[in-house]
Amino acid sequence: MPFYHKLGKIPPKRHTVFRKPNGELYSEQLFGTIGFDGMSTNSYHVHRPTMVKEIKGQYSVKPEIALENHIKSYRFRGFQVKPKADYLESRTIVLTNSDVNIILAAPQESMTDYFYKNSDADELIFIHKGSGTLRTHLGNIDFKYGDYLLIPRGIIYQLRFDDKDNRLFITESRRPIYTPKRYRNWFGQLLEHSPYCERDLRRPETLETHDELGDFLMKVKKQDEIFDMVYASHPFDVVGYDGYNFPYALSIHDFEPITGRIHQPPPVHQTFETDAFVVCSFVPRLYDYHPDSIPAPYNHSNIDSDEVLYYVDGDFMSRNDVDAGHISLHPAGIPHGPHPGAAERSIGKTKTEELAVMVDTFKPLKVTKAALEIADEDYHKSWLESSH
Ligand SMILES: [Fe+2]
Repeated sequence: MPFYHKLGKIPPKRHTVFRKPNGELYSEQLFGTIGFDGMSTNSYHVHRPTMVKEIKGQYSVKPEIALENHIKSYRFRGFQVKPKADYLESRTIVLTNSDVNIILAAPQESMTDYFYKNSDADELIFIHKGSGTLRTHLGNIDFKYGDYLLIPRGIIYQLRFDDKDNRLFITESRRPIYTPKRYRNWFGQLLEHSPYCERDLRRPETLETHDELGDFLMKVKKQDEIFDMVYASHPFDVVGYDGYNFPYALSIHDFEPITGRIHQPPPVHQTFETDAFVVCSFVPRLYDYHPDSIPAPYNHSNIDSDEVLYYVDGDFMSRNDVDAGHISLHPAGIPHGPHPGAAERSIGKTKTEELAVMVDTFKPLKVTKAALEIADEDYHKSWLESSH
């Protein structure tokens, strides 16, 4: 995060004596990224965060690849991924490369039996359906429909859901996910032309501090495997922390669209960046106001990046037959554009209610077996006129 946050009790000076009411020292932990050069947080634990009791086993969560190399546009019906009780079991990787996994999940139950930590990747969880609380060792954040939850790698978390009907679109990134650099000044502050600002970013405001010893199962993801580790102390035992590395939330509804007289290119929708892909938010907005403007996008060749669009809600101006929860994949190497009739249909329209999340990757994405189970195999022919 490009700003400083403090929660709970901390001593006035780093790396100095800080005692519990019983006179013992709190355990200080520096939680750094990019070695010691990236964002970091200094947290104070009731117990040592290092007390491993047992490593019970490990298992692979590597996706099964169906298509290594392809040039076919696809549509996937995301809501056809069947709900599962457990959060980790429900995570279904549909698209993948060495930088990023695109995941659909429909968990029904809150996480109560274990804690989860992804040491491989930052996670960006978009809440399509459902509400609840993200509980982390650095504090809790309530979430609801339309929220992005950004969970940096290494944050220990649980998701608590209010009910069983949950749909998540998760981007799991081996590269750190940041706010776009062009929207930040040299101090890290978001600038006036940014579509959102610090007020829109919701930080953890409540901290759970559990002084408990026992057996605590932590599932740690590392190199595409989950390690079942048993710790001797409750993972949420922080009394206070400060720094720049913490989870936060941003509602897609707080993203202020940038509009123009003629069609604006995708970068105006950019919400997050990495050096391997970008994430964009398409939100309800007024259309282009040049008298002859065509609001639908023109055909375009994203010749060297794959484009993934996740449709959330509203009308989708350039697409025929697209529903909430669908994903379109337009691969690098070929042009794509509006469906037949969509450009004409868009002329004279003054606004759109569309809501969608886009992930554009610079390396091609592989299609998994799970994705093919929910795929429309004829989508790549959907630009033909019906008479062809
Ligand atoms: Fe596109």
